[in-house]
Amino acid sequence: MGFYMPTKVLYGRDIVSKNRELIQSLGDTYLIVSGKSSKKNGSLDDTLDVLDGKHYYIFDETPENPPLEIVEFIARKYSDADVVIGLGGGSPMDTAKAVAVLLENPSLKPEELYEKDKYGSAKPIICIPTTAGTGSEVTQYSVLTVNGRKKGFSHECIFPKIALIDYKYTVTLNKELTISTALDALSHAVEGYISRKATPFSDALALESIRTINSYLPKLLDDPDNEYYRERIMFSSTLAGMVIAQTGTTIAHALGYSLTTEKGVKHGLATAVFLPYELKMALTESKDKVEEILRIFNGSLEEFYELLGVSLSVEISDEDIENWSKIVSNASHIAVTPGKYDLEEIKHAYIEIKEKYLI
Ligand SMILES: [Fe+2]
Repeated sequence: MGFYMPTKVLYGRDIVSKNRELIQSLGDTYLIVSGKSSKKNGSLDDTLDVLDGKHYYIFDETPENPPLEIVEFIARKYSDADVVIGLGGGSPMDTAKAVAVLLENPSLKPEELYEKDKYGSAKPIICIPTTAGTGSEVTQYSVLTVNGRKKGFSHECIFPKIALIDYKYTVTLNKELTISTALDALSHAVEGYISRKATPFSDALALESIRTINSYLPKLLDDPDNEYYRERIMFSSTLAGMVIAQTGTTIAHALGYSLTTEKGVKHGLATAVFLPYELKMALTESKDKVEEILRIFNGSLEEFYELLGVSLSVEISDEDIENWSKIVSNASHIAVTPGKYDLEEIKHAYIEIKEKYLI
């Protein structure tokens, strides 16, 4: 049992501006990987301000669920960058991590990112999250899309060197994104808490994260400009990221991936709808932990979802369920998820969310 998370975490309002020297000390040529929203939420201006005097590039067209091809494109185009900044939600941060590996290892083919023995280092990575949910700023994971499927890789060398976490960038998030990203954080905390790889260290962080989301997410949705509520959800998200850095995610993530890649459901929502089923299935093996979680939600996670208005407006056919279940049955997540998951139980997970959340 242990705990490993080598990222320097710097947290608080205006944290980017307060760390100009540290950020400038990492290299000479910086590559900022972001999406379009970084202009709107002020994070790009803050980052450019602290890079004043340095050479930098901006790639601000990272798509949602970034494909491997975009990683290759960015690494080729900005091959002389020696520091990579992931600025945004999970997509820019995960892209930045993969690009940092390719820049450090120019002969590595993009598909070899998934063969961790083929490389051992990456260019220094700075992550600046602008959503509260992914936790990617404190993990060794990068989830990309390969041949239409979400596929993550994990390597110690892609733990960011520095995470600069400022909740003020999340104030402009709309309600839909606020909920879906917070539900991603909730999924990380719940999945990590019941994971077979959980430790007392990760459990302490997971419980704090779950409790904080339960207390503050409904309040935040009622008062989206409230900076204290925004800070609480950002804090929960980073805690949940530290949890999965130890435990990985479990089956709810594997079940949700197809909903995202094939039906366009936002990642956090696509994952969270499976948590009630995952908890039910975990009862045989981790009863105390499941009960602990349910106690936090006054006995029912589903009622918490009702309060938030969680629903899915997609169509799911029997054929979809057949295909997706086969994919999940081969997922590595099953080995760390409490409970027994044969093809039938996996299909049931999809049938259940169809009955409960489809509108
Ligand atoms: Fe996630």
